[in-house]
Amino acid sequence: MVDAVELVWPNKDLPLRASGLLSYEWVQPTDRRLTKPLKTAALYPGDFGPKSNVLAIGDGCDVLESLQRTSVFDVDKVRLVYIDPPFNTGKSFNQYGDNLARPMWLSMLRDRLAALKPILHVDASIWVHLDDSEVHRARAVMDEVFGERAFVTSVVWQKRTTRDSRAAFSSNHDTILVYAPSGPRAWKTSRNLLNKDEALMQNRDDDPRGPWSDAPFTAPGFRKAQQYDIVTPTGLVLRPPRSRSWYATEKTFKDLVTDDRIWFPKGGNGSPRIKLFASQLRGLVPFTVWGSADVGTNDDAKRHLQELFPDISVFDTPKPEELLERIIHIATNPGELVLDIFAGSGTTAATAHKMGRRWITVERNTQTVLDFTHPRLQRVIDGTDKGGVTNTLGWTGGGSFEMMHVTPRFGTLPTGHRPPAITRKIAQTRPSQARAKKAG
Ligand SMILES: C[S@@+](CC[C@H](N)C(=O)[O-])C[C@H]1O[C@@H](n2cnc3c(N)ncnc32)[C@H](O)[C@@H]1O
Repeated sequence: MVDAVELVWPNKDLPLRASGLLSYEWVQPTDRRLTKPLKTAALYPGDFGPKSNVLAIGDGCDVLESLQRTSVFDVDKVRLVYIDPPFNTGKSFNQYGDNLARPMWLSMLRDRLAALKPILHVDASIWVHLDDSEVHRARAVMDEVFGERAFVTSVVWQKRTTRDSRAAFSSNHDTILVYAPSGPRAWKTSRNLLNKDEALMQNRDDDPRGPWSDAPFTAPGFRKAQQYDIVTPTGLVLRPPRSRSWYATEKTFKDLVTDDRIWFPKGGNGSPRIKLFASQLRGLVPFTVWGSADVGTNDDAKRHLQELFPDISVFDTPKPEELLERIIHIATNPGELVLDIFAGSGTTAATAHKMGRRWITVERNTQTVLDFTHPRLQRVIDGTDKGGVTNTLGWTGGGSFEMMHVTPRFGTLPTGHRPPAITRKIAQTRPSQARAKKAG
């Protein structure tokens, strides 16, 4: 295409593969190791079937390749992908490094998006959570993989409420890029609206049907059948405003009055308004700016993890379950499949599980899985995770998941490297914790 615009970077055309436990390497397309079978081990021996929830240890691309040989995608394709990859901030966190050379980071992202593409449901959406470090380049990459017509929006999440006075600006937001391969118009017809906040509804006349919201009893344009006199309780005779009509015909208006569905504000002097009860309200179209009061902050997420795991230093960059709850609510219905290939502490899977969605999640760092992801998901199932969205959803436990381990094809592994010994319900603790427990 003559007017095509493309982001270019060194080695863009070379395959980039996970190498060793935590790095990547460029390989030549002719490298014979590319076709070597991956070593996959089932940790919780399960069937990895069409109804399974899966926690996998390994690189996201390697695990997706391995999972294609199971039947996890046989019935359902993926309705929602949410990924929160390392942002490439140049920092080093307790659980993972975040300092890839830019070409490597870009290929890393592009390859994972490309690997996700064939397993997407026709109504799928892909949400990529980033900050200012790479978000503008990531958008160009997503345009390239999914086409710019697949762009839906970018959501700005207020991730903190405290001020950091060291920089020129105290950054308190992340950006989540939302793409839908079917395009925003088609996707809009299948996505869910937000629930109207019933807390904002009032019951100003003690209506036994409960609290209500209200809307003007007018409609745009001139419609003859909807031009008539309305007499307010205080005796004022009203006509519709200029170039508008009443919302319904006189007969319907009278029926609504009989049903106590019309409200006259200003002590009975105001223009009529229609009362709308919760069951009659359409949901709300989501805004693109999401405040911390609605969906929590990074610190809220850390506090939740600290309550779950008080004896270890907290996971550095968890996202709040309230944020994931909103994303999963908008993008999926109960029973549908949610995928996150940068699991970290497991927020996506934990929230999806509590919301009755099926999930698959992948984390590369074995110690992160042992410390956080596995025990957290186990506690969701046991019903002993009392934080996050547990109370609002009335979650009390249940369900199951299976675990697998995929060894990378490239790089050198530590001597004696083998999949961790995890058995159902028993997470292998760190040696130091095991010793501490014995001593105690
Ligand atoms: C920002 S954190 C995700 C945090 C997560 N959303 C949460 O709420 O806890 C990114 C995670 O991706 C993992 N990761 C990095 N590269 C990966 C790869 N190639 N495959 C799978 N996981 C990877 C890191 O180890 C880290 O735990």
